[in-house]
Amino acid sequence: MVEDSGRFDALLQEDRTFPPSEAFKTQANISDPNIYEEAKRDPEAFWAKFAEELDWFKKWDTVLEWNPPHAKWFIGGKLNVSYNCIDRHLTTSRRNKAALVWEGEPGDRRVYTYWDLYREVCQFANGLKSLGVKKGDRVTIYLPMVPELPIAMLACARIGAVHSVVFGGFSAESLRDRINDSESKILITADGGYRRGGIVPLKQNADDSLKNADGQGNGAPSIEKVVVLRRTESADDKMVNGRDIWWHDLMQGQPLTCEPEQMDSEDMLYLLYTSGTTGKPKGIVHTTAGYLLGTYATFKWIFDIKENDTYWCTADIGWVTGHSYIVYGPLANGATSVMYEGSPDFPERDRFWDIVAKYGVTILYTAPTAIRTFMRWGESYPQKHDLTSLRLLGSVGEPINPEAWMWYHEYIGGGNCPVVDTWWQTETGSILIAPLPGITTLKPGSATRAFPGIEAEILDDQGNSVGPGGGGYLTIKKPWPSMLRTIYGDEERYVEQYWSRYPDIYFTADGAKLDDDGDFWLLGRVDDVINVSGHRIGTMEVESALVDNPKVAEAACIGKSHEIKGQAVVAFVTLKDSVAISDAIITELKAHVATKIGAMARPDDIIFAAELPKTRSGKIMRRLLRDVAEGRALGDTTTLADPAVVDSLKEQYGEEE
Ligand code: WT7
Repeated sequence: MVEDSGRFDALLQEDRTFPPSEAFKTQANISDPNIYEEAKRDPEAFWAKFAEELDWFKKWDTVLEWNPPHAKWFIGGKLNVSYNCIDRHLTTSRRNKAALVWEGEPGDRRVYTYWDLYREVCQFANGLKSLGVKKGDRVTIYLPMVPELPIAMLACARIGAVHSVVFGGFSAESLRDRINDSESKILITADGGYRRGGIVPLKQNADDSLKNADGQGNGAPSIEKVVVLRRTESADDKMVNGRDIWWHDLMQGQPLTCEPEQMDSEDMLYLLYTSGTTGKPKGIVHTTAGYLLGTYATFKWIFDIKENDTYWCTADIGWVTGHSYIVYGPLANGATSVMYEGSPDFPERDRFWDIVAKYGVTILYTAPTAIRTFMRWGESYPQKHDLTSLRLLGSVGEPINPEAWMWYHEYIGGGNCPVVDTWWQTETGSILIAPLPGITTLKPGSATRAFPGIEAEILDDQGNSVGPGGGGYLTIKKPWPSMLRTIYGDEERYVEQYWSRYPDIYFTADGAKLDDDGDFWLLGRVDDVINVSGHRIGTMEVESALVDNPKVAEAACIGKSHEIKGQAVVAFVTLKDSVAISDAIITELKAHVATKIGAMARPDDIIFAAELPKTRSGKIMRRLLRDVAEGRALGDTTTLADPAVVDSLKEQYGEEE
C-alpha cells in the first residue's frame, strides 16, 4: 500500500533511546508531560491560552470556526505580525538585543538589534507605500540570504501586503510563473548573491522573468516596479529606466516610523509556492494570527528558546523552514537568529562549525542531507572548532536515518544535546510532529509525537486507524492554527489535494509507521513528489521541462534513493524519432531542466527508452520505473500494455550504472 515501505523496515529495528537529562528537564520551557492530555482534552482552550502571549490590538471573539475543510482561527481578533516580531520587544530589555546576526559568504558581517530592525522595516514599509503598495497587494521577493530579505518580509507584514518569497535558486521561468500566479505588483530582487565563491545572477534572472519565454515583450504584466538591492555590484548597468529602483534610493528620506496595519486574524500574511503532483506549483496561503501562533508556540517549546540563546537555522528563507524558523518564530519570541548567506564548503568544509564557534551558537537547526554531507567529509572539520556552546540540535526536511542522527548527536552535539527531529510541511506552517526536549524520550530516526493540540493519526487505505506496529498514511484529524487556508486561486485543488482522500481529515501525502510506544516514524512521500535534499520537486514539473525540449517526445521522472540527497531525480526519456542518443543530449537535457526550473531539479540520471511502460489505459507506471531505477525485483506487470518495454529498460539502466 505505502509504496517503498519495504526499504524502511530497518527503521523499526532501531531501539536506542535517549530520555531527557535531569539537567535539561529542570531548565526546559515545558517539562510537564500532562500538557499532552490537557491539550487533547480541549485543543481550542490550549491554543487560546498560548495566544494570550501574543500582542493583540483587539482580542478575538471566537477561537475556532470549523466548516470542513475551512478553518478560521481567532475570529474578530486584530493584530500585526511585524508588531509582534519587533515593536513589542522595544519596550523590554530586548530593545538593544541582537535580532539578526548575519554573515555573508565572503565573510562580511552585520548585526541588527531589535531597534535596528524596527527602523529598517519601517523605512522599507514606507518605501513600499510610496510605490503604491496597499493592504492585500502581492509582492514577490527574489533575494539572496541577506538581512534585507527578512526586512522586506516584515515590511510587507507591517502594511498588510502579502509577500511571496521565491527561492533564489529558482530559474527566471519559475519566477515568472510565480509572479503571474500571484499577480504581484512589485518585485524585490538584488543584483546578485554570493554562492560557493561565485555570483548568482538574480537581476539577470529577474529581468528574464519579466519578459516572455522567447525573451520578448512583457512576461509579467502585473509588475509595476522592481526594487533592486545592491549586493554584488554586478548589475549597475542593468537598471531599467522607469521600472527599476535601487533599494538604497527607495529608503532615502523615508520616515523612521510606520504605523502597523491592524490586520484581521484571518487576513493573508503570505503566499509560498510549493510543488505538488501536477506541473503547476501551488501557492500555499497562510494567514495572520494562526500562523504567528503556530510558529511562536512550536519555536518556544521545541527549540526551548531562552533569552540568552543564539539560534541558527541553516535553511534558506526561500523555503518555509526559513519563513517559520529564521524569521517569524524566532523574532516573535524575541530571540537572536543567525543568518548565513552561502554554502557550507566555502571557503572550506568547516564553514558551519566556524560560524557556530564564532557566534557561540547554542541551538542549531539543519537538514539530514547536510548532516550526511558532513559525515562524508569526516569528523576532522567539526573537530577543528569549539562547538561546546551548542545545547540543542534540530533536523528537518526529510526522514533522518539513525546513522546520521547518531553522528549529529555525537560529533556536533558532543553526545549531550537533545536532537529534535521535526516533521512538518509548507502547508502545515509550523512543526506538527517533534519531541519536546524536556519531556520526550528521543529515538534516532523518529520524529516521536504530535505537538500538544495536534491530532495526528495513521490511517490505512480504508480510513481505519493503524495501531502500534502498523504503517499507512499520516493524517491530521483536527484543524490547527497555522494550517494553510487554501491554494491561492485554486480552491478546488485545495479540497481535492488535502481533504478528499479521507473526508474532513487532512491528508499529508506522507507514509508513516507507529511503533509500540506510539511514536511516529516518517517514511517519505506517497505521491508524485520527490524530496531532493529536503526540497520538494514535482515529477510532473520535471517532465514538462523535459518535453519542452524539442528533441524529447515523452518523459517520466521518479525519485531514486540517494545516499546524501535522500532522493535524486531519475528521468526516463523517449526521444523523437530522428534524434540519436548521445552524451551531448544527456548534458543538454540536464541543463535544460536546470534552466527551466532551477539547479535543484536537475536529474542525476537520464535513461533513454524506446517506449515508457504504460497501463492499458495509457498511464505511465512509475512504480515500475522506480523498481527499475532501484534495481528491485519488479512488481506486478500484468496491467502493462507491452511487458517487453520493462525488460529493455532494465537492460539499458543496468548498462548505465
Ligand atoms: C515534506 C514537506 C517542513 C519544512 C521543510 C520541507 C518531508 C519534512 C520531515 C521530517 C520526515 C520530513 C515530508 C513532508 N519532511 N520534514 N522531519 N521527517 N520527512 O517542507 O518542502 O513542504 O516538504 O518534507 O515528506 O511532506 P516541504
